[in-house]
Amino acid sequence: MAGIEERTFIAIKPDGVQRRLVGEIIRRFEQKGFKLVGMKFLHASEELLKEHYSDLKDRPFFAGLIDYMHSGPVVAMVWEGLNVVKTGRVMLGETDPADSKPGTIRGDLCMHVTRNIIHGSDSVESANTEIDLWFQPEELVSYQNCTDDCIYG
Ligand code: RTP
Ligand code: MG
Repeated sequence: MAGIEERTFIAIKPDGVQRRLVGEIIRRFEQKGFKLVGMKFLHASEELLKEHYSDLKDRPFFAGLIDYMHSGPVVAMVWEGLNVVKTGRVMLGETDPADSKPGTIRGDLCMHVTRNIIHGSDSVESANTEIDLWFQPEELVSYQNCTDDCIYG
C-alpha cells in the first residue's frame, strides 16, 4: 500500500528514561501498528542535541532545553507506517502537557513543558533530516512485517 513506508524519528527524553516509561511508550507505538525500524540507547552529545534543535537556537529556553536533553540517556527510534509523522504527533499530544488531551502520551504521563518525556518529528522533511542526523543508514533495518495485511488490509 502507498505510504506505509513513511518514517518518523521518535526519542524518549532523559526524564522518560529516568521515570521508566520506555516500555510504556514503545508499547503504544507497537500496539497502534507502527513498525520499529531503528532503535538505540545513548547519552547524546551536546553537539548532536544543538543540531537536532537548531531551529530553536534563538529561543530563550534553548540553553535549558539542551541541558535537559543532555542530562542523561535517551532512546532514539525510527518508526514506520501510514501517516506515521502526523499520527505520531497526535499520539504525543501538545508540546505543553497541560494542553495535551488524556489518551496522549504527554497528556497521560507528564506535567510540565520542560519535562515532556518524548520528541517526535513535526513534518516528513524534518523526520528525514533527524533520521539522517541520529542514525547511520546501516542502523535502519528494512524487513517485511507479517501483520501488514491485518493492519492495512
Ligand atoms: P519536540 O521537538 O521535543 O518533539 O517538541 P515539540 O515539537 O512539541 O515542541 P518544540 O517547539 O519543537 O520545542 C522543543 C522542546 O523544547 C522544550 N520547550 N520548552 N520552556 C519552554 O517554554 C519550552 N518550550 C518548549 C520542550 O521540551 C519541547 O518539547
Ligand atoms: Mg519540535
